[in-house]
Amino acid sequence: MPERIAVFTGGGDAPGLNAVIRAVTRAAILNYGWEVYGIRDGLEGVLLNRADGVVPLDLRAVSEILPRGGTILGTVNKADPRLYTVEEGRAIVTEWAKERLKAWVSAQGLRGVVAIGGDGTMNIGYQLFEAGIPLVGVPKTIDNDLVGTDLTFGFDSAIDVATDALDRLRTTARSHKRVMVLEVMGRNAGWIALHAGVAGGAHVILLPEIPFRLEAVCHALRRRWQRGSQYGLVVVAEGAYPVGGAPIYHEIGGKKRLGGVGEWLAQRIYELCGYEARALVLGHLQRGGSPSAFDRILATQYGVAAVRCVANNTFGVMVGLHGRHIRTVPLADVVGRQKAISPDDPLLDIARDLGIAFGDEEV
Ligand code: F6P
Repeated sequence: MPERIAVFTGGGDAPGLNAVIRAVTRAAILNYGWEVYGIRDGLEGVLLNRADGVVPLDLRAVSEILPRGGTILGTVNKADPRLYTVEEGRAIVTEWAKERLKAWVSAQGLRGVVAIGGDGTMNIGYQLFEAGIPLVGVPKTIDNDLVGTDLTFGFDSAIDVATDALDRLRTTARSHKRVMVLEVMGRNAGWIALHAGVAGGAHVILLPEIPFRLEAVCHALRRRWQRGSQYGLVVVAEGAYPVGGAPIYHEIGGKKRLGGVGEWLAQRIYELCGYEARALVLGHLQRGGSPSAFDRILATQYGVAAVRCVANNTFGVMVGLHGRHIRTVPLADVVGRQKAISPDDPLLDIARDLGIAFGDEEV
């Protein structure tokens, strides 16, 4: 009987999830002759005992999904109280759920489970590994805030979307002599804002890692007006906040989500600098659609590397990009940590040399 593996996707979706599923499936079937099963909706397909909760994946099932956004397996970004308790924002897998998954893995005779997701999924995956499930993690998130890898897949595609938005906002900003504020995702890390801001030629970039002062933002904009460029492009990360302030959250369906700083900032820019300002929240456009070529390649590398880990019986690890190489890091070193932009990130200096303001300048 051929050996078997399972794969699932967890947390918010990101471009490239299907590319990983395809790579895992192809590498497992073509190189090892294994059978591959996809678990639907995170682990709920198995844990909630759904009739169609597990789908066999063969070469035909994954053909033509490489460029497709989203995930053919579905995903969940909330902790179902039947399966998880939440302690200090961290999902703790219940003993019942661990036992149920272990029983399923053993009944199916699975050689390994590939978990594709962000910090929440790696945290759950680590608990499952500790409970005895042979699991390998693959780092996904548009936010790029996972430690243990240079890059997560999904990030590059999100930057492309945000950069395109800036290109479009520039023409309308210039026509109306306005300040256009683009609020981008990223949670409490500013990777999308920094990279899209540089790629899109923003004049001000505001990051959670660098609390800003409104006077410095206004000073940077006024300088532009004085030089004869009477419009401004500001990129603000959803988690950015002023010195002495705090990130802005709103409630959706009883859940706290970051968002609203763009609108707040546009209003302050109008009041303090006197420039007409408009805000755009780019939102989930950054997560949807086809992955960039870079993300397709990265996702494919991760998928193949994860299958190699299963073949080598290397579990409790996450695959990650280190320079040009895919290496593994223990999940224990990944969970509970966040990769923020460090003050000595070279792109910060380069941006400053270009005259981009971060709102922390002396005025
Ligand atoms: O982690 C990805 C992400 O898109 C964040 O950038 C954003 O803050 C969050 O998810 C939004 O989550 P949801 O789609 O559940 O509202």
